[in-house]
Parts: sequence; structure tokens; C-alpha cells
Amino acid sequence: MIPGAPQCDPEIWSLGIPVLGVCYGMQVMVQQLGGGVERAERGEYGKASLHINDATDLLTSVDNDTVMWMSHGDSVTYLPEGFELLAHTDNTPQAAIADPTRKLYGVQFHPEVVHSLGGQALIRNFVYQICGCEPTWTTDAFVEEAVREIRARVGDKRVLLALSGGVDSSTLAFLLHRAIGDQLTCMFIDQGFMRKGEPERLVKLFRDQFHIPVEYVMARDRFLAQVVGVTDPEVKRKRIGHEFISVFEEESKRLGPFDYLAQGTLYPDVIESADTNADIKTGERVAVKIKSHHNVGGLPKDLRFKLIEPLRKLFKDEVRNVGRSIGLPDEIVRRQPFPGPGLAIRIIGEITAERLNILRDADLIVRQEINRSGMYHELWQAFAVLLPVRSVGVMGDQRTYAYPIVLRFVTSEDGMTADWARVPYDLLETVANRIVNEVRGVNRVVYDITSKPPGTIEWE
Ligand code: XMP
Repeated sequence: MIPGAPQCDPEIWSLGIPVLGVCYGMQVMVQQLGGGVERAERGEYGKASLHINDATDLLTSVDNDTVMWMSHGDSVTYLPEGFELLAHTDNTPQAAIADPTRKLYGVQFHPEVVHSLGGQALIRNFVYQICGCEPTWTTDAFVEEAVREIRARVGDKRVLLALSGGVDSSTLAFLLHRAIGDQLTCMFIDQGFMRKGEPERLVKLFRDQFHIPVEYVMARDRFLAQVVGVTDPEVKRKRIGHEFISVFEEESKRLGPFDYLAQGTLYPDVIESADTNADIKTGERVAVKIKSHHNVGGLPKDLRFKLIEPLRKLFKDEVRNVGRSIGLPDEIVRRQPFPGPGLAIRIIGEITAERLNILRDADLIVRQEINRSGMYHELWQAFAVLLPVRSVGVMGDQRTYAYPIVLRFVTSEDGMTADWARVPYDLLETVANRIVNEVRGVNRVVYDITSKPPGTIEWE
């Protein structure tokens, strides 16, 4: 192992609690307990077939020769005393090991990634059989406990929530509303970069169907004024972020005062960001930044709310389940991701009111046709992008000189990697025809066939 590689406290191995070391975790375990780890002659990256030596215990119900995902250059050369071999691969003689007496387990592969087909079964064995955990975590139990905790924490104080219409903030709104009723104020800032009809639909849905009042803040002109003449994507994001803060600040003063700011922070945000600090006096988390998807910088000093983040231990799919269980409709729960700056980063270069209208109309056609085709849930995202160039076309007996629209339809597991979607030509044809015929200012439609990497999903 590389000198200076991180180590753990060796006491861990004698605490008498079950441990599963994954990849480097297994190597550290082996090395600290007296086994050997060395740079392998050949590293192993990607899929490997797992040959099982001992199908009991950790590997119960894991199929022999199942695919597991590997990513290592070092390998275990010999096992510490008390350990036995559970499985190997063609390149890795010790791919899964155990000291069942001490309940110490190690796997060289990554059972936690979706491409490891037997991974879930292995993790289940470890958690339920070896650790003896009971599967008592249910969404209903979570909702009950969250409601209780919110009530206890908030008391008779007021809470502000910035609603975006996505699944996180919508789930949070439902949860908070159930817990504290009208002590909750939901604020929706319309920055003018949403899809056609969505702001109206969102407010109506919340008010009329869910009976959760929403303070609608019309700020379209202010946001547009901020991005006029801006072509750099990051400057665009920053300007939008700062304006969001200004509007948020003004409106929270107008509607306030509030003691708490509710945020739809999820577990991955907790791991990845240092966006929040603890208040030195109370130990409570206070907001320094609003959740990164609003792409904003710091909140002003005099606007330091106490934070309330009931979803912070959940992953996205768990939030969806919670949302569903407390009554959010599928329309929100299974919505495709939509970036915080919205259509602003789907108009390449300068944003103008005209370009926004064109993109909004083209985007609506994409949504309608994707819905009609029944493919909405098969695609990670399907949207239109407007390019700030013009090309020549002909319509009727007129020459046209108008914008192209790019269709970006992708499949993905998590947005980190993506592939362009192989949708039927007929669907592409219908979308392209409708856009050119119905959206003035567009005379050409192209389909983006770039995967990520090297392309990104969004164009800016
Ligand atoms: P990229 O374009 O980086 O996108 O492949 C990966 C995922 O992130 C979304 N995305 C954003 N979301 N603010 C957001 O809230 C942004 O500035 C932003 N940029 C990209 C994108 O839609 C995709 O799901």
C-alpha cells in the first residue's frame, strides 16, 4: 500500500461488533490484523465474475459467477490468522474473506454499486443475518417520527420553506404542513425560467388540491434584467443565484419574521457539502447557504435562520417513497430532474425574452410528445435546448433564417453518467415537425447523440 495511506483505529477490530470492509476497507483490515497486501501484477477494473468458495454466511443466496464490480490495483496476498476465503475472481485470489468468530468480513469488490448484481443480497446478509438488524424502517414510521420531531423542535414558532416544485421541497412541504399546519409558510419564487405553465400549475396544485397555501412571488423581470447581455454560463448561474438571495431576503422580511428555514437537504448533500455550520452557542445547524441546487452563494449575515432539515438522512428514492406515502401525486414524485436555473442554462449564450418564449414553446411540445409516447419514465431527462445561431431554411416559398432547437433525450441511473436515448424515429419526427411548424423562430431541429462523458446532460 502507498505509504501514508489512511488507517483506522486498530481497536475497531476488537470491539466485538461486525465489520464489513469494502475494497480498501478490506485491505486495511487485512494489513492491520497481520495479513499481506501488495500491488497486484494486474489491477482489476470493471466487471468480474465472482467464483464462490463458501456459499454460506455472507454469500448466502449470492449466485455463483455473479457479476461484481472491481476497482483496485492492490490485492490481498495472504490472510490474517482466523480468516477464511469465501470467494475469488480470475484475477483476485482473495475477493471475499471472513473471520466469522470475530464477525469481521471483507470484500475486494463493490457490492454497493448497481452493476454488482449480487451486491444487494450480500449487503442484506450482512445487515440482517450478521449484524442482526430488524427491517423496521418503513416510510410510515419515518413520517410519524419526523412529524413528532418537527413539532417538538418548532413548538409555536414559524417556518419558511422555499418551494421549487421538485420532489424534495414538495415532500418537505407536505411533511411540515402535516406537522405544524399554518405555522409553515411556503414561498415560491417565479424567476421566469420555468417550463411553460409550471409555476401556475404548481401554485394551483398546492393551493387547491393539497390545501397548502403558497406565497407566489413574481420576479420574472428582475431575473431577466440580471442576465441580459450575459453569455458565460457560470456568470449566468451566479447572477441568478444572487438574485434568488435578494428576492428571498426581501420576501422573507415581508412575510416574516421566521425562526426556522426548512430545506430539502438529502443525505448525499450532507456528505458532499460543507454548506451548513453549527451555531457555536446552541449547536444547532444554521443556514449559510441555501441548498446548492438553487446555485446561490451565502445568505446575508442578518438573515441567519435556524435550519430544519427532516430529509437529511434520506436518499432520493427514499424521499420519493416518503412523498408517495404522504400523498404527493406521481406527477411530482416521478418528475424528471430540472435544474435550478431552469431554461436559463438551456438557452446557450444570451437570454432574451424572445428566446425564452421560443424555448418554452418548443419544450412544451417535447413534453407533450414524450408523455404521449409513454416514454416519460424511461428517460432520465428529455428537453429542448436553443442555440444562439441562425441557419437558412425554406418554408412554403419563403426563405427562413431562424434558430435551431436541439433535442436532448437521455437515459441515466443517477445523472453522473448518461447515454443518449434510442427513441423511435417516429417520435423524433413528430417532435421535429411540430416544433418547426408551431414555434415561430425555429426552422431546424437536431438530435444530440453524445453520451456523458464526454458530453454533459445540459448544454451549459
Ligand atoms: P450535467 O449537465 O452536469 O447534469 O450532466 C447532471 C444533472 O444535474 C442537473 N444540473 C443542474 N441542476 N443546477 C441544478 O440544480 C444546475 O446548475 C445544474 N446543471 C446541471 C442536470 O439537469 C442533470 O440532471
